[in-house]
Amino acid sequence: MCGIIGISSNKSVSSSIINSLKKLEYRGYDSAGLATLFDGEIHEIKSEGRVNHLEKNFDLKNLKGTVGIGHVRWATHGIPNSINAHPHSSHNVSVVHNGIIENSTLLKKSLSDKGHKFKSQTDTEVITHLITENLKTNELEEAITKTLKQLDGSFALGIIFKEIPDLIVGARRGSPLAVGYGPSENYLGSDSYALKSMTNKITYLDDGEFCIIKKDQVNFFNQNGKKINKKILELTSDELSYEKGDFKHFMAKEIEEQPTTIKTGIKEYIDNLNNDVNIFNFPWKINEIKSITLIGCGTAYHSCLMAKYWFEKLTSLDVTIDIASEFRYRNNRFKDNSLYIFVSQSGETADTYAALNLCNQNKMKTCAVVNVIESSIARDSNYVLPIHCGPEIGVASTKAFLGQILILYILALKFGILKNEIKKDDYLQKIKDLKNLPILLEKTLLLDNDIQAISSTFNEAKGSMFLGRGFSYPIALEGALKLKELSYIHAEGYPAGEMKHGPLALIEEGMPVVVLAPKDSYYKKTISNMQEVIARGAKVLLITNKSTDEVFSENIWQTIEVESTNEDLLPFLLTVPLQKLAYYSALKKGYDIDKPRNLAKSVTVE
Ligand code: M6R
Repeated sequence: MCGIIGISSNKSVSSSIINSLKKLEYRGYDSAGLATLFDGEIHEIKSEGRVNHLEKNFDLKNLKGTVGIGHVRWATHGIPNSINAHPHSSHNVSVVHNGIIENSTLLKKSLSDKGHKFKSQTDTEVITHLITENLKTNELEEAITKTLKQLDGSFALGIIFKEIPDLIVGARRGSPLAVGYGPSENYLGSDSYALKSMTNKITYLDDGEFCIIKKDQVNFFNQNGKKINKKILELTSDELSYEKGDFKHFMAKEIEEQPTTIKTGIKEYIDNLNNDVNIFNFPWKINEIKSITLIGCGTAYHSCLMAKYWFEKLTSLDVTIDIASEFRYRNNRFKDNSLYIFVSQSGETADTYAALNLCNQNKMKTCAVVNVIESSIARDSNYVLPIHCGPEIGVASTKAFLGQILILYILALKFGILKNEIKKDDYLQKIKDLKNLPILLEKTLLLDNDIQAISSTFNEAKGSMFLGRGFSYPIALEGALKLKELSYIHAEGYPAGEMKHGPLALIEEGMPVVVLAPKDSYYKKTISNMQEVIARGAKVLLITNKSTDEVFSENIWQTIEVESTNEDLLPFLLTVPLQKLAYYSALKKGYDIDKPRNLAKSVTVE
């Protein structure tokens, strides 16, 4: 959460910082700011709202300086306004910060007692004053080492100094941070995405490390202030995938890219010649694994739930799923013969990362299903299964969801065949069906006009419900999450069979209810549950698949039919109309689709 950029150069840096901040807005967009050094002073500009607001409010030409730091914020401590926006500066130090300082209240008190004056409600300002204080009696490296040891919590920091004007300090604990190398300039960034337009040469800081960046030199230090060497990685450049192209929003583009996501996943993981799943270099013997625990947050958690249904169908493995923020604080019984799978698009989600660290500390077998392969979760897992869906910029996760469930389905198939729990013929048929999935997705994407029309009813309603059973239940949760995230309409996902145990009381005349009832083994039961809500006045949008079987039900308000395939794969197709429903509903309301209120793409705070 929040984005950091820092540049040390031989030319003016403010416009490059602004450009990078625009790219980083997906990490936070409630306020923005930057600080540079010139004429022997720190000069900072800050503004509530987006980066273009900052640009409008200030004349960047006046902000000279060859060293600077910038920040886009997702508020944790203090409301989003220009005072709480970063950087936070004292007379000689300026700081940008991602993360949360847990002992800020105590530190603030002791610094106030020493005469430090605070302007904002943020935890970050404490860091500024702590460094200012420590610089009174220490050289730079000692002052940084000492300051970092006094901080509890998580942080990625960018710091500039009035009296040492040629450098930026970066420091990391918990929140990701990268250094980039350019010609006659070097960079600090909260992720490689911010740096990619300037360089493809990157070094990632590990927890506890800090760095000193000058225009022609970068030095790294461990938590005790000892100099260390770090590797420079070369990233592949795919700038085009960071552009919207002809689409109005990244989300629209990312929804349409889903057939390609699935094609790429199949290309990476399916051996076309032998019709087999390719999972190379899997570090454990299959019989060592008796159970699986899948962990994630938000949409990634829905992928875990989806995978549970598939693993339980295709294998005899004991499957547990967990929301990362719950997993990490429970008294877990770690099992040696269990595989812990961490699902995350960004690979930086703080709760998921903390759950991974907990498993690593307990010497468990850990596997990451991630999109960003340079991410912390990927780097710290024993084994990585990338989803290869390209950058996902829209805050609402779409193609990454299909990418995640594809890899998890493929993994379930592989376990099933290796453990002799699926018949060879079934396995081959399922792989054949999988290869046909991109075409079916393309056809499903054509269902557009109907969904546009239907979305108005959702916008007029007080709330809505999304129901499904079995394989469709995780998709119902995902559909409800998309609608509330983008349209700010109250939406609940429920197992259709649970309605009668309480939520049925919410149904009133005209309430829109989405019922996911593909013609799978749960079909008849779901249709009965659908009747129960229709009988109580709900306006049912039935999403099913094309089939010669009639739907025996009256009074259905609207029906949408996706393509048909084997029941394992129907969840992929059912997802698309729900993504579009949320998209069109937000579009009609005029909301900011790629940056919904109060949210951010990469959630690097607990
Ligand atoms: O990067 P991750 O997949 O770990 O992110 C997890 C959630 O924050 C994310 O899926 C979130 O729920 C999305 N905004 C939902 O669209």
